[in-house]
Amino acid sequence: MVHLHITSWVLAIILALYVGHGYKNGQNVKVAHMILRLLYFVILGTGLYIFIDLPKDNMPSDLKMLYNIKMGLGIIMLGVFEYFTVSSKKKRKMLVPVTIFTILILALLYLGFRLPLNFDFFA
Ligand code: HEM
Repeated sequence: MVHLHITSWVLAIILALYVGHGYKNGQNVKVAHMILRLLYFVILGTGLYIFIDLPKDNMPSDLKMLYNIKMGLGIIMLGVFEYFTVSSKKKRKMLVPVTIFTILILALLYLGFRLPLNFDFFA
């Protein structure tokens, strides 16, 4: 499930950049945008699945908080993908969407890889 999670957000990042540039250059990227929107559900579904599947009984509360921040930022990121692509489609200035996009992705990569997958909570 983690592999599917990683695959889906890697694909989504590549597609979002492709769609954003495509709209800017007046290309027809409607199908790519549609696939990107489908990926939001895969990212959300796999992320929630991983979390629900974890043993949480003995999880320290600071770790629980990190998971909540990770998931909250992950959900916000799905909205930022749309903000990024639609801003480009509407020919708005891209500085703010690009900045938020980059900061959120970096924060998610940091948090995601920092979180202890397969951590032994009973040790
Ligand atoms: C575009 C958005 C997202 C990005 C870039 C992202 C990135 C990541 C990364 C880098 C990891 C670590 C994978 C590993 O340790 O091998 C991860 C794991 C995880 N993600 Fe996401 N994620 C996103 C969205 C979400 C969403 C929406 C949720 C849930 C609502 C979520 C929940 C999780 C959970 C529970 C883990 C397991 C963390 C662990 O125990 O190591 N993610 N994600």
